[in-house]
Order: sequence, then structure tokens, then C-alpha cells
Amino acid sequence: MQVKLTDSWWIGSVRVPTRIVLAPMAGVSVQAFRRQGRRFGAGLVCSEMVSCAGLHHGNERTLGYLRIASDEHPLAVQIFGSEPALMAEAARMVEAAGADLVDVNFGCPVRKVTRTGAGATLLDEPGRACRIVEAVAAAVPVPVTVKMRRGLEDGSRTCLELGPRLVEAGAASLTLHPRSARQMYTGRAEHALTAELVSLVGVPVVASGDITSSQRARTLLGDTGAAAVMVGRAAQGNPWTLREILDGPEQVPDPDEVAAELILFVRETVRELGERRAAGFLKKFYGWYLRGRFPRQLVQELVRLQTTGEVVERLLEEAPGAAFVFQRLESELPVGQEVTLELPISAYGGG
Ligand SMILES: Cc1cc2nc3c(=O)[nH]c(=O)nc-3n(C[C@H](O)[C@H](O)[C@H](O)COP(=O)(O)O)c2cc1C
Repeated sequence: MQVKLTDSWWIGSVRVPTRIVLAPMAGVSVQAFRRQGRRFGAGLVCSEMVSCAGLHHGNERTLGYLRIASDEHPLAVQIFGSEPALMAEAARMVEAAGADLVDVNFGCPVRKVTRTGAGATLLDEPGRACRIVEAVAAAVPVPVTVKMRRGLEDGSRTCLELGPRLVEAGAASLTLHPRSARQMYTGRAEHALTAELVSLVGVPVVASGDITSSQRARTLLGDTGAAAVMVGRAAQGNPWTLREILDGPEQVPDPDEVAAELILFVRETVRELGERRAAGFLKKFYGWYLRGRFPRQLVQELVRLQTTGEVVERLLEEAPGAAFVFQRLESELPVGQEVTLELPISAYGGG
């Protein structure tokens, strides 16, 4: 019988309430993005990749990634690095911060990461990759998962050799984005490999890559035997797509709802990053939220504004009804101490 996207599943001891995982995306997966993803139906959310070296050195910005809200669970924090001992230390910090899962990045194709021997490079260093997973799994009581690409070069099948070894080393689940590192985001994800990986391992496999509709998600689960689908780019500025993938019917939010979600996102992000950092960080989100839904020049206007306060003001001018929707959204969110982790406030003071 085919699994339904609304069915729960398990990664080791962690129950995941739906079959949608919100993808880790550097420069995107802030707390506001993850909390929103949970509200819209993602059963599991993930932080962006966090440098184990940054954690080791107590880098304030890196520590900021360990800020976890009570309404995010279950949540994975993803770490990257190339030294087993440092990765184990990072995993302990991540677990202490409240993560339900520690995810290890063997997929990042970006040079800044691969030239340090981390990310996708480890696909070509199976011995070291396994030692990392072993060290991380031994360091923490929570399940350890791995996210990887198919291999470094186009046509590579490395993931099929490495996957079972990583499971032996202690991985409780594998996520496969079946593009090569060389491909970056070009071409398409070859999910025939996902099906092959599923047939080779006894742990849940998550399918990542090009999932943009309910139809696609259901077909992929049926065709590959994957336990869940991971949604990334389709959810940028479009949490409604998560609801659509989960429940089926098309979701067309009205302008007030779109503006209200964006205002909430802005407010939460300012709280997390501080005004100065958030103002720059948020610019890409304006286009993602508003393009095709509001007049084109609105995005151009918003990106030129100096402060997020002006952005909110301008949005309310354009969609006055958003104020009421925003109030409702805000009243439904948990507030106060329980939401944040006790970390030095200077870590989030912006800059
Ligand atoms: C902007 C951006 C940042 C990403 N950052 C990460 C990351 O930090 N860790 C990771 O494992 N994958 C990262 N990815 C890859 C995604 O998690 C996902 O595997 C990929 O985008 C394919 O899924 P999609 O077609 O649904 O976007 C990133 C992707 C994008 C577009």
C-alpha cells in the first residue's frame, strides 16, 4: 500500500509527523523559515549547514545557528567539516542545544566548503566519511543522519557504494539529492538512483531534488520507496506549496495572507539576526514572496528601502487587510522564553 504524505514515520527514536522534510538551505533556513515550514505541514525541518570549526572556535555567528524554538521540533541541525573529532564535538553542542537529530553534510558542492575537505568532497573519501559518521554517532544519543549527492562527477553512482557503508557506520537515515556536485543545480535530479539506494539500505531514505507538486511527491514516493520527500527551492517565499504537496488541492493565498506571512517572516528574522543583518538578508525573500502576486515594481521598491520597518509599512499600504491576518498569525505563535535558547544575546545583536 502506498504511503500517504500525511502519514507519520520514524528516524530511529524520532517520530516525524508527515512525509515532507523542509530542506536545509544556507542563507535561507533561518528559524523563521523553519517555524513557518512546520506550520505549513513539514514534518521535519533542518537548519542550514553549520561549520564544526566555527562551533569549535565559539564563533558567535555560528553559535547563533543553534538557536532553536519550541515549535520547531522535530528539528535537525546540519553540521559540516572534515575532522571526525571536531564533528563529534560539534554534534555534542548541537544536541545540547536541543536538536532532535544531527545531520551530516556530504553534499555541499560549493568551493569554499569542498576545498576544506568537507561537504561533497567526502563522497570521494569513503573511509573518512565513515569515520565521521561513526564519531558523530558515538558522541550523541540522538539519531544521526546524512545528506549527500550522487557523487562528484556527472553520472557518478558513488552514493550507492557509500550509502550502505554510512548506515553501517551509524546513519539512521540518508537523504539523497541525486545530482552530482559538478552539476550544482543544473540538469535534473535522477531519482532512479534514489530507488536503488532504497533497495540497498534498511533505513529510511529521503528524496531531495525538484519536488514542486503533490503529484510529483506522490509519484516519487511510490516509484522509489523513499520514506519522505524533501522540499527546498519550491518553498522559498512559498510555504503554501508545502500545504499543497501535503494535502493535494491547489493553494492560492490572497494578497493579504501573502503580505502577512512576509511581515511575520521579516519580524521574526529581525529578532533572530538583528536589524542590520536582517535588512540585507531579507531582500531576496521579497521577490520570492511577491513576484507574480503583486505589481512588479513593488519588489524593486522594497529592496531599495533602508529599514525593515519601512518595508513593513509599504507592505501594509499595498495590502491593508494584512494587518488583521498578521495579528491572527501572531496570536497563534508561542511567545516568550520557551521559544528561544539561552545563548548570549550578543550572538544575535546583528552585525
Ligand atoms: C540556496 C540553497 C542553499 C542550500 N544549502 C544547503 C545546505 O546548507 N545543506 C544541504 O545539505 N543542502 C543545501 N542545499 C541543497 C538543498 O537542501 C536541496 O537538496 C536542493 O536544493 C534540491 O532540492 P530542491 O530541488 O527541492 O531545491 C541548498 C540549496 C539551495 C538552493
